[in-house]
Amino acid sequence: MQDITKVTPYDSTEESKKGQVTRMFDRIAPYYDLLNRVLSAGIDVWWRKKAIDMLKNAAPKTILDVATGTSDLAIEAARKLKPDHITAMDISVKMLDIGRNKVEKAGLGNVISLETGDSEAMRYDDNNFDAVMAAFGVRNFENLEKGLKEMYRVTRPGGMVMILEFSKPVAFPVKQLFHLYFKFVLPVIGRLKSKDRKAYRYLYESVQAFPDYRNFADILERCGYKNATYKALTGGICTIYTAIK
Ligand SMILES: C[S@@+](CC[C@H](N)C(=O)[O-])C[C@H]1O[C@@H](n2cnc3c(N)ncnc32)[C@H](O)[C@@H]1O
Repeated sequence: MQDITKVTPYDSTEESKKGQVTRMFDRIAPYYDLLNRVLSAGIDVWWRKKAIDMLKNAAPKTILDVATGTSDLAIEAARKLKPDHITAMDISVKMLDIGRNKVEKAGLGNVISLETGDSEAMRYDDNNFDAVMAAFGVRNFENLEKGLKEMYRVTRPGGMVMILEFSKPVAFPVKQLFHLYFKFVLPVIGRLKSKDRKAYRYLYESVQAFPDYRNFADILERCGYKNATYKALTGGICTIYTAIK
């Protein structure tokens, strides 16, 4: 398996993975939500709902949504969990601009604040949030463990981390269909619609290289979290990971 930190959107040797990832999301931001809905046939909305359900029992009052993008996960959390406050941060200003509009339209501007930042060097205090979460974000970190350790640092003791990320299905026929769809269909639709030749090829390659299931749960524990568990969704196309600080 390829090292996830070496999988980059544009194969540039001069620009860091972080720079390339930021540039890619800035470019595809206007098309991101529509492509998510079309390419997943709307299932991504349900995945985020299931992910937020995992935080229900913990009833967090303060939440950090890392790599919030266009804020779908933060909006779902605000509606379902009714926390006092959600900090939603991302490295791409263009993704946040779209998110900000959606938050305002949803009337959640008093609950969710959107901030630019790098999840591998966050400006938040230690032991700050009741829950820290990320959907489809950590796969894009330049340094996965550095980002996860930062997430751990800002979680309060006893607080929870929840991460939703793509995984590689193992069972027939989801495995075979997923492979064909992700490798051949999705990059073509993505290229036509997002006008970015590489973005959806990067999606396939980064999912292939990303450590999943127990491997990722073990990484969470290596970064400090306890009791890391996971729940596969839709035949393992994506997986929800949770753990406690
Ligand atoms: C696939 S999008 C996911 C967005 C959103 N969470 C969702 O569920 O749709 C990945 C996001 O991760 C962000 N990202 C990547 N690396 C980051 C970093 N080091 N710090 C903060 N955000 C980052 C990107 O800018 C992008 O918005």
